Amino acid sequence: MDEPLLDVRDLSMSWPSAERPVLRNVSLRVRSGEFVAILGANGSGKTTFLKCIVRLVTPESGSILVAGQQMAGLTGAGLQRARRNVALISQSANLVKRRSVVANVATGSLGRRPEWWTSAGALPQSELELASRYLQTVGLEHLGTQRAATLSGGQAQRVAIARALAQQPQVLLADEPVANLDPEAADDILHLLRRLAREDGLAVCCVLHQPDLAIAYADRVVGFSDGSVAFDAVSSAVSQAMVDSLYRSEPAA
Ligand SMILES: Nc1ncnc2c1ncn2[C@@H]1O[C@H](COP(=O)(O)OP(=O)(O)O)[C@@H](O)[C@H]1O
Ligand SMILES: [Mg+2]
Repeated sequence: MDEPLLDVRDLSMSWPSAERPVLRNVSLRVRSGEFVAILGANGSGKTTFLKCIVRLVTPESGSILVAGQQMAGLTGAGLQRARRNVALISQSANLVKRRSVVANVATGSLGRRPEWWTSAGALPQSELELASRYLQTVGLEHLGTQRAATLSGGQAQRVAIARALAQQPQVLLADEPVANLDPEAADDILHLLRRLAREDGLAVCCVLHQPDLAIAYADRVVGFSDGSVAFDAVSSAVSQAMVDSLYRSEPAA
């Protein structure tokens, strides 16, 4: 069997000044071609977990292998290089609204470029062509010249995915990528993420708020509870009781 592209072991982390650790010995593996969903109540540590993987925050202990490369102890140029293998998309697409769709996608490849290039301003033709290819992957090649401000929520999220792909990562992380979308657009995005796993061999790990969508789309569902993994199961084995156990302590909205 292939080594997992994402292999997190015993990850622990505390926010300064917090009484309790936010992550406690979290382990999670995602192989090439797999789509794993994370479920959990608000505050259970899902976002912190993804931020640890891309090293926006520094874990206290544990191991984070991305495509075989240890991310946990890296700093500086070594960290910059290793980060190219993993992309994180979030709830809001965070596009530069006044720029064209294709230019937004092309910025995803900046992580692969030397610094002098990123400060040079205009994007070379070769990068724009590459960006158009990723727009095609997400089904939006016809919108390349349009300003990002004109897109619907679902289209903007597709562009964010194309931008992540332009980084050419092997691991794709998504933090509630469909939270702001209507049900139809949410289905489209989850279809796309699953296809990127199945057809392109990415390891996809996606935080979702809707258990039914997680079970419908993911190969495996991992339940987070109070900073720990409560369960890690193939989707067909996830019961209502398992889901309910995650949300029992969630404060009423
Ligand atoms: N920057 C921060 N500083 C201190 N505490 C934080 C910070 N970000 C999140 N937390 C705390 O960490 C816990 C987990 O948050 P988070 O990872 O965002 O959970 P989730 O994504 O599951 O809702 C929460 O108690 C939250 O208040
Ligand atoms: Mg969150």
